[in-house]
Amino acid sequence: MIQANEDGRVVILGTGGTIAGRATQTGDNVGYVAAQVSVGALVDAVPLLQDLSLDVEQVAQVDSKDMDLSVWQALASQLAAHLARPEVRAVVVTHGTDTIEETAFVLQMLLAPRKPVVLTCAMRPSSALVPDGPQNLSDAVALACDGSLAGVTMVCAGMVHAARDVAKVHTYRLDAFDSGDEGPLAAVEEGRIRLFRVPALGQPLHDGGLLASFLAATALPRVELVFSHADADGGLVRALLAQADGDRPLRGIVVAGTGNGTVHKDLVAALEAARGQGVRVCLTSRCARGHVVTHPGLSFDEVSDLSPVKARLALALELLGSG
Ligand code: SIN
Repeated sequence: MIQANEDGRVVILGTGGTIAGRATQTGDNVGYVAAQVSVGALVDAVPLLQDLSLDVEQVAQVDSKDMDLSVWQALASQLAAHLARPEVRAVVVTHGTDTIEETAFVLQMLLAPRKPVVLTCAMRPSSALVPDGPQNLSDAVALACDGSLAGVTMVCAGMVHAARDVAKVHTYRLDAFDSGDEGPLAAVEEGRIRLFRVPALGQPLHDGGLLASFLAATALPRVELVFSHADADGGLVRALLAQADGDRPLRGIVVAGTGNGTVHKDLVAALEAARGQGVRVCLTSRCARGHVVTHPGLSFDEVSDLSPVKARLALALELLGSG
């Protein structure tokens, strides 16, 4: 049961994903095509949503593995426009699971919304024998109507995660997401929210000026992600430096170090050469849990406590903001 939203409208924006996926055979949970079903049809399929004041809009229809700047721009711009409407109390976004954590993070960094923005998804296509999308969508709308968690959150399998912390950790299970040491924000139980913690709301980066730069950009500043691993030789970094790409020169490298941010000595040498050429090098850890605990012996002094993919986005946005 969802508490009726007498105090305002909820907007539902569709972007594709498995939640909108369809397989030729009912019961096939993996051999499907993502982003086939309109967000309007997804909403129509959930009886619990029919009596609510909803506005539904298809912003994109993509498999989120192919997420790119143009879709993020369309989404961020529509989201900002809807959040500015006084009658809108919250926005829900349907999205693929594969990059939902990156989209959530980008939206939180750009907008730091004071209203709830709830991303949701599904691990099974809409044609599955027992699809998880309808329940996830229903839970997301329940959280949006409840209003106790502002900012960008993400709901899957009954758990609510913060944009900053959430990561997809399983390839197949319905509860595919985890918030690491921070833990989830809340659970959704029969349309009711059981709150565990409330994250800081944060400020939009650069007072919202970054949003304008983001919306006008033709590409994000180029930041590549490299992993340290046994037998690493730095060849990938040298290849990146050798590449003459005048339109989109290499501006940064995020290195996902082993353990507490250790990096193979041959990769360190290549990264130091990159830094010598003006490329920002930011260190994080490839460990799924924890963050780099800083100490003077680290190979690089620029350290992020974000996951590698989010550290990459944070650096790209910072570089975008600094021109
Ligand atoms: C996607 O990320 O768009 C496809 C996979 C999924 O949603 O689970």
